[in-house]
Amino acid sequence: MTDHQVNQLEQLVAENRLLKQRVDQMQRLTALGELVSTTTHEFNNVLMTILNYAKMGMRHRDDATRDKALDKIYTAAERANKITNSVLGMARNRSNQFETTDLAKLIEQTMVLMERELNKYRVAVELQIEEVPAIQAIGNQLQQVLLNLLINARQAMPDGGQLIVRLYPEGDSVHLAVRDFGTGIPVDKLKKIFDPYFSTKDGPDESGKGGTGLGLAACKNIVDAHGGKIRVESTVGKGTCFTLKLPAAPARQTPQPVGNHLPGAATPMNAKAAG
Ligand SMILES: Nc1ncnc2c1ncn2[C@@H]1O[C@H](COP(=O)(O)OP(=O)(O)OP(=O)(O)O)[C@@H](O)[C@H]1O
Ligand SMILES: [Mg+2]
Repeated sequence: MTDHQVNQLEQLVAENRLLKQRVDQMQRLTALGELVSTTTHEFNNVLMTILNYAKMGMRHRDDATRDKALDKIYTAAERANKITNSVLGMARNRSNQFETTDLAKLIEQTMVLMERELNKYRVAVELQIEEVPAIQAIGNQLQQVLLNLLINARQAMPDGGQLIVRLYPEGDSVHLAVRDFGTGIPVDKLKKIFDPYFSTKDGPDESGKGGTGLGLAACKNIVDAHGGKIRVESTVGKGTCFTLKLPAAPARQTPQPVGNHLPGAATPMNAKAAG
C-alpha cells in the first residue's frame, strides 16, 4: 500500500468511528425518550387504577366493595413499586462501566416496563430463563438492546402473537434470544437490517416507536463492545429470532473506553465491527 492509501484508510477508519458514535448517540436519545414515555404511561396507568378504586371504595361503603377496592389498590401500588424499582435500577446502573450483571434480573426489570405495551398489542410473552453465569456488562446498554429487540418484535406482530424470551448458557457464553412469530424478514433485507438508517417502517407508530432505523445498528455496536455477537434467523411469514451471544468470562482484561456524551448511557466507541 502506498502512503497515500494508508492515509486514506486511516481517514476512513476515523470517519467510520465518528459515524458509529453519532449513531449510538442518536439511538441513545431515542431509546431514552421511548423509555421515559413508556415508564410515564405505565405509571399513569397504575395511578388511574388506584384513583378509580379509591373513589369506588369511598362511594360504596359495604365491606365487599371496600375489600375489593383495597385489594386492587394494593396490587396497583405493588406494580408502581416494581416500575419505580426498574427505573431506579437503571439509574443506578449509570456508571457506564462493565459490572457483574445478572441478566435474568435485567430481563425481569425490562419486562415490567414492557408489560402494558405488550398487553395492549396482545402480545403474550413466554419467559424461558435458565440459570446462567453472571457476565461483565454495562447493564443500561444491554437493557437498551433488549428493549429495541422487544419493540421490533412487537411491531412485527401487528395483530398480536407470541414472544419468547430465552436465556440459557452455552459453552463459555450466555445466550439471550428474542423470538417473535411475526412478519419475518425477506432475505434481501436481512443483510441490511443492522445498517444505520435502514428501516421498512413509515415512521413512529402510535406508541411513538420505530422508523429511524437506528435500533439494530445500536444493538450491534453495543453487543460488539461487549465482545459478543448478535445473530438473526428469520423466515417470512413465520417469524424472527435474534440471539445475543455474550461471553461469560469474568472481568475483561482491557475494558473498552467508554464515551460519555449523554447522561445515563454511553457506548464504547472502539468496538470492532465483527459479524
Ligand atoms: N423482529 C423483526 N421482525 C421483522 N422485521 C424486523 C424485526 N426486527 C427488525 N426488523 C426489520 O429491520 C429493520 C431495522 O430495524 P431497526 O430496529 O434498526 O429500525 P426500526 O425498527 O425500523 O426503527 P428504530 O430505529 O426506531 O428502531 C426494521 O425496519 C424491520 O424492517
Ligand atoms: Mg426498531
